[in-house]
Amino acid sequence: MTTASSPPDARAPISAPEIAARKGNGPPLVMVTAYDFPSARVADAAGVDMILVGDTLAMVVLGYEDTLQVTTDDMAHHVAAAARARPRALLIGDLPWLSYHVSSEETVRNAAQLIRAGAAAVKLEGGRKRLGAIEAILDAEIPVMGHVGLTPQSIHAVGGFKVQGKQLDAAHAILDDAVALAEAGCFAIVLECVPDAVARLVTDAVPVPTIGIGAGRHCDGQVLVYHDLLGLEDRMKPKFVRRYASLKTDATTAVARFADDVRSGRFPSSDETYHVADDVAEALGLYGTASA
Ligand code: KIV
Repeated sequence: MTTASSPPDARAPISAPEIAARKGNGPPLVMVTAYDFPSARVADAAGVDMILVGDTLAMVVLGYEDTLQVTTDDMAHHVAAAARARPRALLIGDLPWLSYHVSSEETVRNAAQLIRAGAAAVKLEGGRKRLGAIEAILDAEIPVMGHVGLTPQSIHAVGGFKVQGKQLDAAHAILDDAVALAEAGCFAIVLECVPDAVARLVTDAVPVPTIGIGAGRHCDGQVLVYHDLLGLEDRMKPKFVRRYASLKTDATTAVARFADDVRSGRFPSSDETYHVADDVAEALGLYGTASA
């Protein structure tokens, strides 16, 4: 039995309050996106703190041009697949565009759909104007991660994927948004594509961890998209992406070698083939016709 004084179980899933408590405590937090069973297994085996089933699903998995194309049903389908990996990392489901913009009731139902699919927290984009949505979700006992700076669900409103907060007013607006999200009860806040000075200002101002992507090193943690860091996505490489592998090249080479082996008759070999015993083969009239 676990009691309040028991040491934490090394395999017990990491909770949102545990992530919040890491502010100013321990090494930087690590978050990575994952979208299915194998990618969640890889991320968890690598020991990350948080796995985000991001709405980047739309772009890196489903091939859309932006993140606006995915629905709550799409997200729930992929959250459920990632959850089947039973990760120790905190599993966060990203609320897609229009799932928290219409009414508090719809917002809570959509957040609950991701929780029932297996997430232990949700993330949504936007600052002070999303406080109503955040409060409604928190009121349903669901932890919320905030997201300010570049919010890709607003690309049409802001005019594209651009660094945010370069001017003084915009920097102050991001700071005020982040402070409001923390005061509302978000357990952590993603800072996307903002200058490092702005990220530092925000990180110093809020009592919860900031998780940066394209926000420099003065954040409490960092996140990258799975397909970017593994080199599975090679159509573009934002400045902030560091590639740790070239899996698209490796996969293409592997599939090309398979194709070559099939076309040249090198695949399958006898070892890769099921055989009957000689007497059965003989009775079947095949004896001598099977290649060794
Ligand atoms: O959807 C996503 O992948 C994200 C990360 C970039 C933070 O929101």
